[in-house]
Amino acid sequence: MNKTATPTTQVFPDSAAASQALAMEVVALIKSREAQGLPTVLGLATGGTPIQFYEALRKLHSAGEISFRTVTTFNLDEYLGLDRADPHSYWQFMHEQLFDHVDILPDNIHVPDGTIADSELEAYCRSYESSIVEAGGIDLQILGIGTNGHIGFNEPGAARDSRTRVVDLCEKTRNDNAVHFTEEQQVPTRAISMGCATILDAKRIALMAWGERKAATVQSALHGPITPELPASFLQEHPDTTYYLDKGSAGGS
Ligand code: PGA
Repeated sequence: MNKTATPTTQVFPDSAAASQALAMEVVALIKSREAQGLPTVLGLATGGTPIQFYEALRKLHSAGEISFRTVTTFNLDEYLGLDRADPHSYWQFMHEQLFDHVDILPDNIHVPDGTIADSELEAYCRSYESSIVEAGGIDLQILGIGTNGHIGFNEPGAARDSRTRVVDLCEKTRNDNAVHFTEEQQVPTRAISMGCATILDAKRIALMAWGERKAATVQSALHGPITPELPASFLQEHPDTTYYLDKGSAGGS
């Protein structure tokens, strides 16, 4: 990896404009690979950040601009202990936000399974990694960023060479995500997450961040020391990463 390839940033007037631009990048990627007879492998993210991006993709699909029939997807993570049918599972999130509205082939969808028994988890995580390699590797990985600098559920302290595995969620992440849960059903304490090395293997990475509450984290990730304490800082070592920012997260207003 090229250590000097600092990520590039693109600052948009607002998150809707940035999300639209990233959706257009995805459309261009799928079309250009289709023209070469190649499938496209997307790494996908969940959370509040990518909601407008998925909305833009849905609209482009219903306008006939893009088909997902040649697309394979791998999601970054899933809460451990949540069934696919659970409304809080990332499986549900992805189906509601994107998969139920486009022509992706069900067999091409990969979201880690949160119901795997503890004794099977290690083998399961290894097989998730193998599936990515067998699909040809991730062409474009979509990311958000946690206020603590996590990417996927790679929390502070995550190793640069980590692979898909079980992770413990930090209190900050569980607090941030509590808005999506009720008191009766609290945020799970563990998840399956692609590792930092899995993410860094992607040919290209697009990270979205919105609002002033992410600005300090974005600044540190872009310009601070490369450290496991801020896993997004590892992206400084990736040769083709773009940060899609609004004015708030860029520190502009
Ligand atoms: P958010 O989370 O989109 O809900 O802010 C981002 C992330 O954790 O990657």
